[in-house]
Amino acid sequence: MTVKGKNKDIGGYIAPERIKRIGILTGGGDCPGLNAVIRGVVRAATLERGWEVYGILDGFDGLLRKNAFRKLESKDVRGLQVRGGTILGTSNRGNPLNYPVMVRGKTVYRDVTNDIVRQIKRLKLDVLVTVGGDGTMKITQAIYEKGVPVVGVPKTIDNDLGVTDVTFGFNSAVACSTDALDKLHTTAESHHRVLVVEVMGRDCGWIALEAGVAGGADVILIPEIPFDLEKVSAHIKRRKQTGSRFSIVIVAEGAFAKGGKKIYEKEPQPGGIPGRLGGIGRWVANEISKRTNIESRVVVLGHLQRGGSPTTFDRILATRFGVEAVNLIADGKFGQMVCLKGRQIKSALIKSAVKKLKHVDPNGQVVQTAEALGISFGRSD
Ligand code: F6P
Repeated sequence: MTVKGKNKDIGGYIAPERIKRIGILTGGGDCPGLNAVIRGVVRAATLERGWEVYGILDGFDGLLRKNAFRKLESKDVRGLQVRGGTILGTSNRGNPLNYPVMVRGKTVYRDVTNDIVRQIKRLKLDVLVTVGGDGTMKITQAIYEKGVPVVGVPKTIDNDLGVTDVTFGFNSAVACSTDALDKLHTTAESHHRVLVVEVMGRDCGWIALEAGVAGGADVILIPEIPFDLEKVSAHIKRRKQTGSRFSIVIVAEGAFAKGGKKIYEKEPQPGGIPGRLGGIGRWVANEISKRTNIESRVVVLGHLQRGGSPTTFDRILATRFGVEAVNLIADGKFGQMVCLKGRQIKSALIKSAVKKLKHVDPNGQVVQTAEALGISFGRSD
């Protein structure tokens, strides 16, 4: 049973000694490490504390349906740290704070978080653990303010969530993108081509930046540094003049030319429905071809970055996050999200984590390191 906090701002609370049953869900886009968190939570909650754990299917969607849950025991999570994706399923469409419902044949958008709170009560969940990115944490904060004791675990390949130094999933996505750059180097060099690699990351350039440095890109384009195509092309031409007849460009899906706009495969819709970024890689490749006369091709890594086994780093981080989420519950620290600070797992208020996106610092150390190596960001100044 959830117990309403005394003060509405404080949110839900239950005395830890009364906890019998907790729920866990994974929300937003999947990423490697989700299963390792589920394993950490289930093992620590059942073996160490003797609580029951219920997995909710398909993210918050599962709390808007009647029987979308399954009981999870230690045997159900055996070996899960290796497996990508999420055994619970997830959803990154249909935000419960602005949920599409049909009224007289028309789609209207409603806040359905009261329905979610009702289902949590019906399932007799004392606490809900949510594993997700910024969207999932905003919903988690909303249901916390409605009296549900919650604990958050930050995930996303984009690494854009505030408060935590890193989210799990990011390292695996960077490893995938770096591997792609390594492979593309040999073919680009053989054919004297420019290869443009478009990576994910939404409005932040973390994946492009780190994979670009690790994979030896010649140009890195990120949303935090709007680029000038003349500078990019001049850099590529200079490389050719000095004997490097190929170039590798890594571009974040949210990057854009100075004075220009982000490119969407599907534009954002009214009612706060997010768009689907995509297409900047092709555009950049075409422009480079035109300006340099060097054949330029594009590779869009897409969902490869979210698939497969987590890296060792992500397995460890996700496992530590899962176990610490259970510790937070046992300490009665609701409304908090586990996070990584340096090498220590700590916690912070969910509401401070969702205040603003964590962007790449355009003059930060990693950008400076890249520039010291001669990598161009297409800076216009
Ligand atoms: O947030 C994770 C992410 O992979 C972003 O990098 C990307 O923009 C988005 O999700 C893609 O979502 P979908 O799989 O719904 O197209």
